[in-house]
Amino acid sequence: MKRRALRLLAAAALAVPAGLTGLAVPGPAAAEAATLGAAAAEHGRVFGAAVAGHRLGEADYARVLDTEFNGVTPENEMKWETVQRTRGSFDYTAADAIVERARARGMAVRGHTLVWHSQLPSWVQNITSGSELLTVMRDHIANVAGHYRGKIAYWDVVNEAFEGGSRRQSVFQQRIGDSYIEEAFRAARAADPSAKLCYNDYSTDGINAKSDAIYAMVRDFKARGVPIDCVGFQAHLIVGQVPGDMRQNLQRFADLGVDVNITELDIRMPTPPSAANLQAQAADYRKVVEACLAVSRCTSITVWGITDRYSWIPDVFPGQGAALLFDEQYAKKPAYHSTLEALGGTSEPDPDPDPPGACRVSYQVNAWNSGFTASITITNTSTAAVNGWSLAFTLPAGQTITGGWNATYRPSSGQVTATNAAWNAAIAPGGSVSIGFQATHTGDTSPPQAFALNGTTCQKA
Ligand code: G3I
Repeated sequence: MKRRALRLLAAAALAVPAGLTGLAVPGPAAAEAATLGAAAAEHGRVFGAAVAGHRLGEADYARVLDTEFNGVTPENEMKWETVQRTRGSFDYTAADAIVERARARGMAVRGHTLVWHSQLPSWVQNITSGSELLTVMRDHIANVAGHYRGKIAYWDVVNEAFEGGSRRQSVFQQRIGDSYIEEAFRAARAADPSAKLCYNDYSTDGINAKSDAIYAMVRDFKARGVPIDCVGFQAHLIVGQVPGDMRQNLQRFADLGVDVNITELDIRMPTPPSAANLQAQAADYRKVVEACLAVSRCTSITVWGITDRYSWIPDVFPGQGAALLFDEQYAKKPAYHSTLEALGGTSEPDPDPDPPGACRVSYQVNAWNSGFTASITITNTSTAAVNGWSLAFTLPAGQTITGGWNATYRPSSGQVTATNAAWNAAIAPGGSVSIGFQATHTGDTSPPQAFALNGTTCQKA
């Protein structure tokens, strides 16, 4: 892969936006920008990741977060149903752990989110009086933003309040009316005067009816002195569909006198990912980063997760995923390299690269008294595509294959080789294929001791 030389620091310094005066842009301060965070910091920007607190004990997760990113957004831990599940009872345990960990490492924290129709406890949704809900909303903001006063770089004060070009008919909209958004911003400013206060939404990355409506609201807020400092563009995108007018859209908001942030970037595709889609995704990430860097007030980019392993996408869009910069084994994807390159950094070799042909095999047995089925998933954990494969393994004594699917199995016992079908010969980096067989046995249903894909021994899952 082509690696562009590091741009001159002087050029990067010129790009620091005036709007960032006073906002410390944290490290990691590398002499050569070999990580996303370090490269972004040289432009005076943050490159962050959404983080799930319960994953921080996983060594690879924590390592990639700490190495690559200079900002974090708690993915779920600051949402209303987490911090005030029961009326009047606030629980900051999960969010505090993320915030304190980030601050100890000099990372910028994005607060997410104070007012949102989703992940909202039923007791809030059941409030029928507008004045009561306004009081409850103000109390929530005062409590949460007050708890983190001075510790948050950006707050997503109100999230996803529009549908198309109109206000979403959330409980806040229905009970309080149009004014609830500005009331939320005023309450947030009072609770934490140093945080930059943002409106955040999705499908607003290009110029369209929804971004037009939000643009009109922000212009009105600025004209009337409502305390809004920034607009977040979530950028949950689909491969091949980065809006061509993204830069113009960011710029028109910036021209209103607010910062603009890419807040939840991911670019999804059908899974398992094809090599072509992974390359297209790399080009798409580059476009998004370039759009942001071209706008001096585009001060941060946050990806919505660290690894494809834990992305929200497959749960909501079955059959879609592979949307982030690191694959399910934390290997850097083509999109990682294009992102780093677009930020002006240079990629260092992976300190512990998976060798060419690296693989992982899971083997599940369903047995009965005389037979069993084996379901096998082969994952390509290397950074190179596999084109044509055979999987070698030795069946324990007494096991004989009687039929199989998605591969051919020769011979039927002893040292078996499973060979790809024509349609599943290619396995993209990070991709998987599922195969299996039926067999008879004479009492021993144990799995093979080892598997080798094209001669390379695989990890066992
Ligand atoms: O915590 C429970 C757990 O106890 C339970 O066993 C499990 C079973 O499903 O669910 C867990 O809750 C899940 C929660 O994430 C925490 O993992 C919810 O079901 C699940 O719906 C929730 O999804 C989150 C989603 O917001 C909710 O709308 C995603 O993780 C999170 O990535 C996603 O983030 C949103 C942004 O906040 C706003 N913009 C869109 C973005 C993507 O949807």
